[in-house]
Amino acid sequence: MKILVTGGLGFIGSHTVVELQNEGFDVVVIDNLSNSSVDVIDGIERITGKKPLFENIDLRDKNLVTAFFEKYHDIEGVIHFAASKAVGESVENPLLYYENNINSLVYLLQQLQKKDKASFIFSSSCTVYGQAEQMPITENAPIQSAMSPYGNTKQIGEEIISDVAKVSNINAVLLRYFNPIGAHPSTEIGELPLGVPQNLVPFITQTAIGLRAKLSVFGNDYPTPDGTAIRDYIHVVDLAKAHVVALKRLLNKQNLEKVETFNLGTGKGSSVLEVINAFEKVSERKLNYQIVERREGDITEAYANTVKANEVLGWQSQFSLEDALASAWKWEQKIRK
Ligand code: UD1
Repeated sequence: MKILVTGGLGFIGSHTVVELQNEGFDVVVIDNLSNSSVDVIDGIERITGKKPLFENIDLRDKNLVTAFFEKYHDIEGVIHFAASKAVGESVENPLLYYENNINSLVYLLQQLQKKDKASFIFSSSCTVYGQAEQMPITENAPIQSAMSPYGNTKQIGEEIISDVAKVSNINAVLLRYFNPIGAHPSTEIGELPLGVPQNLVPFITQTAIGLRAKLSVFGNDYPTPDGTAIRDYIHVVDLAKAHVVALKRLLNKQNLEKVETFNLGTGKGSSVLEVINAFEKVSERKLNYQIVERREGDITEAYANTVKANEVLGWQSQFSLEDALASAWKWEQKIRK
């Protein structure tokens, strides 16, 4: 069975391609290499023994998207990762985000709408909840107005998919990720941030390896036990596996609604200082860090209620925070060699 993975050479995409191939799916990757490297294909091949098909296509080009679906008319499912994801950049250049994240989605759905049946998995984010009032966060928590154009594209994307599913043969799963971290245990693939990392864990590993002088901890005056902000850090391999479970659910017609939504997290919140301590333990090094002002737009805490993902989707995270940090560290050491 042929599955399209857009953004399949990116961080979460590449790990998902591995899990799909491990489960026997034929994968076609679309990626425009804007935030990824073509070498990732070799990493995927070394892990799975198989190269996915690859098309270097920019999904903003509607003609190319149409031509792709003419060539690969037997695609039965799509996992759509391709999108821009830097919050700050989206504030600076909102139209880039609306064009890239929204137009691409529309062009893909236009093609899928022509099919008798199509399964669609969408990369969404816990950012849609903003600062939720209740922890842990369930899928029924209210959507709050987005704090950035990036966050808005995730909300709009969810709405577009829901509207289209109502009037087409498309069934969809919206996956709201908490904070994905880590790397494949083989160290063949992992995160490759462009420039200075904005996210906590790549900044930690780059500091530990000596690429950055010190980590800035953004605020220690939050209303949390140690004053630093709390997130739900999930191993990227766990996250990747959830995509395969969700896809099979649609392909086997086990979904209860045309569009279903699941939180993907571990259910455990960790503060920035807890992440630093766990990193120091698994890496056996001291991390150079300082406390600075809060980062604008950051929330106090977000961690997932995982009951729906566990019981309805039938998926559960397996790796601990320590496992995920150890894999991220192993990966950092390998790529710097
Ligand atoms: C961020 C995005 C979110 C996006 C997600 C994707 C913002 C405001 N949010 O989530 O929309 O979906 O990435 O990966 O950018 N921290 C530090 N020092 C650092 C970096 C981070 O103290 O150098 C802290 C942050 O304040 C936060 C935690 O670490 O409390 C996690 O930060 P990060 O990895 O950037 O993720 P989010 O902000 O949760």
